[in-house]
Amino acid sequence: MNAFHSRRPAILFDPVLRSLPPRLLRPFELECLVRSLAASDVRWRPLVRHDPRQRWYTRLHWTPTVEVWLLGWDVDQDTRLHDHGGSRGAFCVADGRLHEEHGTAGATHLRSRIHGVGSAASFSTRYVHNLVDCGPGPATSLHAYSPPLSLMRFYELDERARLVAAYQLPVAGPEPDGQALPVLLGEDP
Ligand SMILES: [Fe+2]
Repeated sequence: MNAFHSRRPAILFDPVLRSLPPRLLRPFELECLVRSLAASDVRWRPLVRHDPRQRWYTRLHWTPTVEVWLLGWDVDQDTRLHDHGGSRGAFCVADGRLHEEHGTAGATHLRSRIHGVGSAASFSTRYVHNLVDCGPGPATSLHAYSPPLSLMRFYELDERARLVAAYQLPVAGPEPDGQALPVLLGEDP
């Protein structure tokens, strides 16, 4: 599923963002950040869009050490199985429901869970997941990454049901822009 990236990314002026330390954030700090932003929606709520043709997102905040994205999902829009390059991350659901399959690169077991409103998760660099809006309506979520995303690897299950990276793409947001050519990997990174 392709994504839409606003050509004019919004910068959110929020006290929580202004108070972030100027360093890389740990997963639990990123989770606290997205939980806090999701719980106080007055500043970002007017920006939310949902597009039945493609997943929508816009950047709320960026520094060299952390970025925050606002995502709008329609039913069945998904991310495909991916990691986040060298970034740690977290997300929190503000509207609707997201189904998540998640595991670790090279492992054989994918777990599954549903995130409803207020549900959040955080992860480190070997985390692999796929998120999909499982309905019954649109979903909205907030995502934070530290450092900002620069690369995503996309995964498949091999003949032994191991999660292996199939290809990677440079990114400037929570999904490749469709212009870059994928680099085939063929083995676990
Ligand atoms: Fe992700």
